[in-house]
Amino acid sequence: MARKKIALVGAGQIGGTLALLAGQKEMGDVVLFDIAEGMPEGKALDLAQASPVEGFNAKLGGGNDYSVIAGADVVIVTAGVPRKPGMSRDDLIGINTGVVKTVGEAIKTYAPNAFVIVITNPLDVMVWVMQQASGLPPERVVGMAGVLDSARFRYFLAEEFGVSVEDVTAFVLGGHGDTMVPLVRYSTVAGIPLPDLVKMGWTTQEKLDAIVQRTRDGGAEIVKLLKTGSAFYAPAASAIVMAESYLKDQKRVLPCAAYLTGQYGVSDMYVGVPVVLGAGGVEKIIEIELSAEEKAMFDHSVDAVKTLVDVVKKQEAGKA
Ligand code: APR
Repeated sequence: MARKKIALVGAGQIGGTLALLAGQKEMGDVVLFDIAEGMPEGKALDLAQASPVEGFNAKLGGGNDYSVIAGADVVIVTAGVPRKPGMSRDDLIGINTGVVKTVGEAIKTYAPNAFVIVITNPLDVMVWVMQQASGLPPERVVGMAGVLDSARFRYFLAEEFGVSVEDVTAFVLGGHGDTMVPLVRYSTVAGIPLPDLVKMGWTTQEKLDAIVQRTRDGGAEIVKLLKTGSAFYAPAASAIVMAESYLKDQKRVLPCAAYLTGQYGVSDMYVGVPVVLGAGGVEKIIEIELSAEEKAMFDHSVDAVKTLVDVVKKQEAGKA
């Protein structure tokens, strides 16, 4: 069987890490695309030279012409600019909308059968722009945010409880970051919900609230420390899990920015919800009943995404 092809559009910090992980996991052959001249070829060559040492079989290549992505099975998009200290994800909207539109048109031309994962921020809006520009079926265009937000939440919880990160599960809904909705009652340690752990004296409600806030601000905390860009290892690892579930038809249940058609009372928008990811892309959107408080937080998050979608719509109408 021929190897799968994974195209990475944007070969910066996240793109390079994605290429390394995809190679190490032998997910398929990897191509990197970037507008920076020489850089995608350079990174691909460097990574290819790691393959004999690391012992993985994958071809790695790259270029500045969109034809390199031709026939890709999966396209992961990080093209655009990242945040600098003091910037919100939303500040990136002007420049990144244009970038994602161009990438979407290229995917339509060269890789119309691909499963597309968008990472470029502001995420929930950029994935909407991607679907519009590429014209691909919405179940084959998703955004990576929830896996990362829940990984951050899981990590902080595991630290607080002194248990393995593997035994902590977290459930998050809504837009990426600031308006993320953690579903505390569905987040567990080995199946024991967090509210029970508070009752058992493992932590306090105050500490839990602080962890939720730290998770929401998780990206900003790293931007502040790095000073020159934003997080890249955990975002790349999160997108790889999504790509793997698609390529191997694992049917993992993962929180992704998915296109809603009435679920949770939302239509024609991408918002973070739990989905089943398999060979068909988003095979199922899981709709759970929310409490009044959770619903209010979710609606607030949806409103924030909607405001940005409207900004893009106005921006595009102005150009027309
Ligand atoms: N087409 C293709 N690539 C582009 C374009 C474009 N029009 N414009 C910029 N790029 C490339 C840059 O040359 C750069 O190599 O996108 C890459 C982005 O890489 P980094 O600046 O290192 O950013 P990274 O940390 O990888 O984050 C990328 O993901 O998490 C989000 O907010 C983050 O939107 C940002 C994106």
